Amino acid sequence: MYYLNNRVESLYRIFDQNERKDYLRLDLNENPGGLPQEFIDEVLSGVDSSFIAQYPETLHFTEILAKHLETDISHLCLVNGSAEGIRYIIQAFTSEGGRIVGVVPSYFMFQVYSEMYGRNFVKVPYNEDLSMDVDNIIKEMTEDTQLLILLNPNNPMGNVYSADEFERILKVAKNKQITLLVDEAYHYFYPKTFIKYALSDEHIFVTRTFSKLFSMAGCRLGYVVGWPEGVKMVQKLCTPHNTNAFAMRFAEAILESPYMLKELISKFEEGRNYLISELDKNEYPHKGEAGNFIFIKPKTDSQLIVDRMKNEKRILIKTYSNVGEFGDCLRVSIGEKKYMKKFLDALYEIDK
Ligand SMILES: Cc1ncc(COP(=O)(O)O)c(C=O)c1O
Repeated sequence: MYYLNNRVESLYRIFDQNERKDYLRLDLNENPGGLPQEFIDEVLSGVDSSFIAQYPETLHFTEILAKHLETDISHLCLVNGSAEGIRYIIQAFTSEGGRIVGVVPSYFMFQVYSEMYGRNFVKVPYNEDLSMDVDNIIKEMTEDTQLLILLNPNNPMGNVYSADEFERILKVAKNKQITLLVDEAYHYFYPKTFIKYALSDEHIFVTRTFSKLFSMAGCRLGYVVGWPEGVKMVQKLCTPHNTNAFAMRFAEAILESPYMLKELISKFEEGRNYLISELDKNEYPHKGEAGNFIFIKPKTDSQLIVDRMKNEKRILIKTYSNVGEFGDCLRVSIGEKKYMKKFLDALYEIDK
């Protein structure tokens, strides 16, 4: 008898990310500039037929990553983008009907996976002023909660948690035996991290990605950090050879380069400082710039601005509606200064 899982049938997914090649892409928090072409050519120069013919080997790169994170490989699981790691944590550490608590708005895949596997995703909303009240998170951490998802910083809200706030949450999670997942996809844009807890404690995971600052979204590479037994559970769920050889080659070259990481960070910071000072000068309210993205409250209709940016200026940005006191606003990825200038020139022309 034919069978179709009705959870899959009714699952809502968005597949609108094609034909973005010839645009300035400020809609999905990638690095619009990407890695320098000479660097790419150099990394690819050693690729031969055996590199492509053989299944990818992960040990060498995992050791390099472990060194970079000042840990050992038992704490790490490489995944095909951190979205994959998040899925496995939900699969392994929650049950059907199990309670998952997360803030909203946030990265939508947390809710998609919860729905995919029949979990009960409980939403903690933001305040009107776009701040997150930690007490509201704690209130939802009930005895029957299996997983709490925090983002440091959150996409799209850009808020972060202080060490005190995090410790308060952690204490409740420990008392009630709730696994904690901290998504640090936007680490490096915001340097503070809770990784030390994932390295020293049980039932805390941190997920990270090479898609954002490392500018490798096209290669698909992320990793899960956790305690060795927890990491083993995540590994068991991975598809065979889930980590792409090209992705590891590029990530290794960046981590081993004496200048590349610093250069990526400094170009980004220059772009962010420029964008913020221009927005301030031109009296645009903005919020949440801890990651590589920002909310901007435009002076006119945000959907119209997004459409005109795309059609007239070939710039992709996003609009969000009902964002607290910001109402309908723009969400723009931050990158190098030259791209921010292009975006601002277009904004000034359209938004009047
Ligand atoms: C908060 C957050 N987590 C995870 C991801 C997934 O990243 P990737 O699967 O490319 O590693 C994203 C992507 O935008 C994100 O915003």
